[in-house]
Amino acid sequence: MEFKTIIEPFRIKAVEPIRQTTRQERRQALREAGHNLFLLRAEDVLIDLLTDSGTGAMSSHQWAGMMKGDESYAGARSFFRFEEAVQKIAGLEHILPTHQGRAAERILARCLLKEGDIVPNNTHFDTTRANIEAAGATALDLPIAEGRQPRTEHPFKGNIDLAGLERVLREHPDQVPVVFITITNNSGGGQPVSMANIRAASELCQKFGVPLFLDACRFAENAWFIKMREEGYGESTPMEIAREMFSYAQGATMSAKKDGLSNIGGFLALNDDTLARRCKDELILTEGFPTYGGLAGYDLEALAVGLIEALDEDYLRYRVRSVSYLGERLIDMGVPIMRPPGGHAIYIDAAELLPHIPAHQYPAWALSLVLYLEGGIRSVEIGSVMFGIQPDGTEKPADMELVRLAFPRRVYTQSHVDYLVEVMAHVHSLRDRIRGVRITESPKVLRHFSARFEPVEDSLVL
Ligand code: F0G
Repeated sequence: MEFKTIIEPFRIKAVEPIRQTTRQERRQALREAGHNLFLLRAEDVLIDLLTDSGTGAMSSHQWAGMMKGDESYAGARSFFRFEEAVQKIAGLEHILPTHQGRAAERILARCLLKEGDIVPNNTHFDTTRANIEAAGATALDLPIAEGRQPRTEHPFKGNIDLAGLERVLREHPDQVPVVFITITNNSGGGQPVSMANIRAASELCQKFGVPLFLDACRFAENAWFIKMREEGYGESTPMEIAREMFSYAQGATMSAKKDGLSNIGGFLALNDDTLARRCKDELILTEGFPTYGGLAGYDLEALAVGLIEALDEDYLRYRVRSVSYLGERLIDMGVPIMRPPGGHAIYIDAAELLPHIPAHQYPAWALSLVLYLEGGIRSVEIGSVMFGIQPDGTEKPADMELVRLAFPRRVYTQSHVDYLVEVMAHVHSLRDRIRGVRITESPKVLRHFSARFEPVEDSLVL
């Protein structure tokens, strides 16, 4: 007998209480935070779906590994364990640990890019874009057409537009020093990229002599989608799939706070010896010696275990299933979401849910505030606040107005998800009464982290 209930494939050894608040307390907390969920105290949040980054629970094996951390400044045993784990998965030559993903991005941008360069990607994450733009280069998003349409079903909506990529490579022969593919495509809805797409992009890059890099934060979830959805991979293990994905790349940046199942860490991995030497020098300048790169020895141990655990089939089955369970409930109640559900998150289409709120009143931002106000849920806007500001400072609406509910790994259980469903049903019933917001204070870059807002009318929900 095969039972069909998919359970959390772990038991819980340590618990952390979460705190209920009243709607009035949350309204006050929002005011104090300038209506920016990044500025809340986490203690005032009941279910925190702001990000799946660094928020996961470590396993007992990881905690045990941490006790073996070798804190030697140079040549620590922990580094070699970490390097071995990354090489086992990625097969790349030089492995540079960094404190998180954006440090790897910054180092690469600094060592590889110059003013006027173009870096294509299926969709750049905001820190990747910011690091590329800080080097004077252009970050170009090339998702397939379906990737920009929330309601269209496609098994690999994260794919890069190959014709678009070929055009850029042909038209700008000396301006593209690297091509990126982000697996899974976070800003595009947590959507996977197929093996065929990675392979074809790699062939194109080879033809034009340009290295292909993976932004590999969620490589294990991407591998699982390939196993589930792509012909020819049903019998392969996630590890085999991951190794094949990386085999098409000459390098990778990774925030190991995601599929490294750790609270901190990242790496830059690459084959090019000369570039690796430059990157190591840059690493020493800001992160630390190349065998620790801004991490403690015990962090490297946690990563060495976590990267491999992330490829466990029972874990991945539960992980992807618990996200799609929420997605299905939302679809059933008529909440428009990015379809099909992504690997680490559900993305609510706020433009469709709140058509009465124009882009310049930030419908997705407003919806995320209401989710907190009504249910104590913290999500994140991926819309015109995050992406609406151009490098020259002008404002242009983003392609999509999404609210992301990102799931920390191994943290919440089925009843937390059922609670989310109930809150969403309530917020859905209020939708015609939800109003937009305006910005009252804003920094120049990455404004979503610290800008302050106020409701355009008396309150968020009239
Ligand atoms: N690339 C992608 C695809 C990401 O999702 C992130 C982080 C980064 C790079 C940067 O990594 O945070 O370790 O410096 N994403 C988090 C998120 C913050 O919430 O999606 P980092």
